[in-house]
Amino acid sequence: MLNEIAEITEQVKTFELKTAADLNLFKQEISGKNGRLNDLFEKFKTVPGDQKKDVGKALNELKILVASHFNEGVSFVESNSVSKSQIDFSLPGKSFSFGKRHPLNLVNEEVIGIFEKIGFITKEGPEIEDDWHNFGALNFPADHPARDMQDTFFVNQENNILLRTHTSSVQVRTMLNEKPPIRIISPGRVYRCDSDATHSPVFHQCEGLYIDKNVSFADLKDTLFYFVREFFGNDTKVRFRPSFFPFTEPSAEMDIGWTVDGKFKWMEILGCGMVDPNVLKSCSIDPAEYTGYAFGMGIERLTMLRHKISDIRLFYENDLRFIDQF
Ligand code: PHE
Repeated sequence: MLNEIAEITEQVKTFELKTAADLNLFKQEISGKNGRLNDLFEKFKTVPGDQKKDVGKALNELKILVASHFNEGVSFVESNSVSKSQIDFSLPGKSFSFGKRHPLNLVNEEVIGIFEKIGFITKEGPEIEDDWHNFGALNFPADHPARDMQDTFFVNQENNILLRTHTSSVQVRTMLNEKPPIRIISPGRVYRCDSDATHSPVFHQCEGLYIDKNVSFADLKDTLFYFVREFFGNDTKVRFRPSFFPFTEPSAEMDIGWTVDGKFKWMEILGCGMVDPNVLKSCSIDPAEYTGYAFGMGIERLTMLRHKISDIRLFYENDLRFIDQF
């Protein structure tokens, strides 16, 4: 048995105790209830009387060694573990990456907010329309070129079902369903068969309509001046140019004047005009009693002007290097 004690003494001396797991293993193999030390004490009971003295001494020495080796291990592990006071709370935390709003959504919501502040209500409508809501009710003559395949995506040409080319169709639906005064904006996706650096087959518009008694062109101008001041800033110059739309009479286009790279430039931002009496009639509103104005602008165009973006396709590529800049 002395041999066995010597062997275990060797094992204990070379047993590395560097981690909490080492301490557990040591307990399991040596010092614990089912460890080798306890086995020896069991065996000691059977040692013949004349050997008890020597074996007992050796066994006691081993017991002391096991305890001190274990205690040394415990203090080593404790002094090497990170204590609370050693944590640096000023270190930056784990960061999460948040998504971003798309620049077109940001501008769209800003435009909606500007008009809602002065009492316009937001209306939405279907993107798949029939010819009447998109063109007919808006005083487009039957042979108007905008109905051609070139500009319009037809879903079903026999039934004249198409993708709306503007959100004026929402104005038509609202006039049919509600009585004046009507003061709405209709933001949304529109479709035209056109594609280059400044045109996309899918783009976004926000159109406005105000119908009441005695609405005049002066009201239209005042509303649009307010919009430009809010969106582009107080110093922005504005001009109106006469234009033509089938659904407004008189019609105009509005430009803003800006100095870009040292050069002053006029840039078109929207179309507008007084609602044509034929449109009011188509929508069961009496033009002798009511007048109204309408305007429409492209969200892409506003965003491109504001951020000096030269290619409309950048909006739809989903390249984070572009989107992260807004
Ligand atoms: N609907 C026209 C377009 O899409 C914009 C517009 C709206 C012009 C209202 C005048 C009045 O181009």
